[in-house]
Amino acid sequence: MQHKKVRFHNSHVDYYFDSSARKLKQLADPRLSVILTDENVFAAHPKIFANWNTIVLKAGEQFKVQDTVDAVIEQMLEMGVDRQYTLVGVGGGVITDIAGYTAGIYKRGIRCGFVPSTLLALVDASIGGKNGVDVGAYKNMVGLIRQPAFILHDLSLLNSLPEAEWVNGFAEIIKHACIKDAGMFRQLEEKSTSSYRKQRKLLAALVQKNVMLKNRVVQKDEFETGERRHLNFGHTLGHALENQYELSHGQAISIGMTFASILSGQLSNFKNADRVVGLLENYGLPTFAQFDREKAMQVLSKDKKKENDTIHFVLLERIGKAVTKPVSIDHLSKALS
Ligand SMILES: NC(=O)c1ccc[n+]([C@@H]2O[C@H](COP(=O)([O-])OP(=O)(O)OC[C@H]3O[C@@H](n4cnc5c(N)ncnc54)[C@H](O)[C@@H]3O)[C@@H](O)[C@H]2O)c1
Repeated sequence: MQHKKVRFHNSHVDYYFDSSARKLKQLADPRLSVILTDENVFAAHPKIFANWNTIVLKAGEQFKVQDTVDAVIEQMLEMGVDRQYTLVGVGGGVITDIAGYTAGIYKRGIRCGFVPSTLLALVDASIGGKNGVDVGAYKNMVGLIRQPAFILHDLSLLNSLPEAEWVNGFAEIIKHACIKDAGMFRQLEEKSTSSYRKQRKLLAALVQKNVMLKNRVVQKDEFETGERRHLNFGHTLGHALENQYELSHGQAISIGMTFASILSGQLSNFKNADRVVGLLENYGLPTFAQFDREKAMQVLSKDKKKENDTIHFVLLERIGKAVTKPVSIDHLSKALS
């Protein structure tokens, strides 16, 4: 176990890497806490929840909506939860997003902590304080930026993780390597999903490296005015496809990263789109896909990053170095076709 304190503008997050869920009772008082989880995590790891007030949600992105948040708030009110309480999200990114957002607005804000249970939540969703819910086809349209008090890692939770969720997690890891870490990109090229699954130390090191990489970006730009936008590599098109086609988050951003890499070849002289595509495919991710361009453009034109008729698009100059460039809606529409 390794403890690291990561500081932000007006708060800090205590990280407990490669630790155990049993440690949770040292970080939050079970009598003054509520755990939020989903039915799959609850069924796979029942011991974690013994002696804790627990709210169990249905699993899935379709439940990451304001109605679910309202229902959780009602249950918390019935349980008599006051401002002394901690809300702990034990689950994947859907749960950490709902828990972080609910904790941020419940009685104007209560303490919050996460025990991420998917690879994607460990290396991405739980980090950086952005938490929110979807509105129709628009991902994460409502929410806030607020850091949790702690993030506790227990990699043994991944023993029950379905194969497809490993693939999803690697999509975000590949994204981090593309935008920030050429060395990690080369390591990923040499290894495979199964090398990381079989070698726990290798996995623990990869998880910690990704957490610190994302935290460094967020620390420089907590409220997303500049560098944090690079984390959106692949997400602009990815989000436009994700809810429309019921793709998983990882699959959607993988298609988005493929498109962004090819666009980078046209607009920022990027020479390695084939390596990005090859790596995504090696980790079981889709790259080129058929989709309705008109519909995708409709959603893109509502993108949060759009200003006038341009979208701030994240492109690569080389592996490990991202840039943001305004790209006209017109150019995107042509490139998509
Ligand atoms: N806030 C952020 O900065 C941020 C960043 C990236 C992604 N996200 C969000 O994260 C979400 C995706 O996260 P996700 O992929 O973890 O999805 P998820 O939470 O839906 O989990 C995926 C599936 O795995 C199951 N599961 C979770 N842990 C398990 C375990 N240990 N064993 C067995 N099954 C388990 C879940 O029940 C679910 O069916 C999206 O909503 C996305 O928008 C947020």
